[in-house]
Amino acid sequence: MMMVISGRHILFSSLILFAPLMVMAVEYRWPPLTYRHVYVKNNLDNGTILTLHCKDKDHDLGVQKLNYQEEFKFQFKPNFLGNRLYFCGLTWDGNLHWFVVYNDRRDLTFCKDLHWSINKDKPCLFNCDTQKYDCEYNYN
Ligand SMILES: *[C@@H]1O[C@H](CO)[C@@H](O)[C@H](O)[C@H]1NC(C)=O
Repeated sequence: MMMVISGRHILFSSLILFAPLMVMAVEYRWPPLTYRHVYVKNNLDNGTILTLHCKDKDHDLGVQKLNYQEEFKFQFKPNFLGNRLYFCGLTWDGNLHWFVVYNDRRDLTFCKDLHWSINKDKPCLFNCDTQKYDCEYNYN
């Protein structure tokens, strides 16, 4: 009887001990410290230049001018605080739009690389699981 109780006790202690690791395993689809890449492609019209300006609170990635079908790429390592957030300002035909290209809360467990296609009406994000673009996103 003692053996059974202490056996259960050990199992219970182990669960408590490893619970944080199990949470991490569920939360992180990609191993911590794996670089994530974000691509933003001009899919407007042939002849329409996309002016792109991406940043997070610590990094300004500069102003990029993209011709039709050209893309801008950047990379980063995940942030253990889970609060990484990059947004991009987009200008074409004299109008400014912006949207969040990467947000830990939204994208931490999404595809390793994020491929955005910038269309006139909305940005679409390639889903590596379905191999299709998801277009449920919007510009601000
Ligand atoms: C854009 O249009 C030009 C002229 O019609 C053409 O030569 C070029 O291949 C086009 N570019 C793309 C990426 O479709």
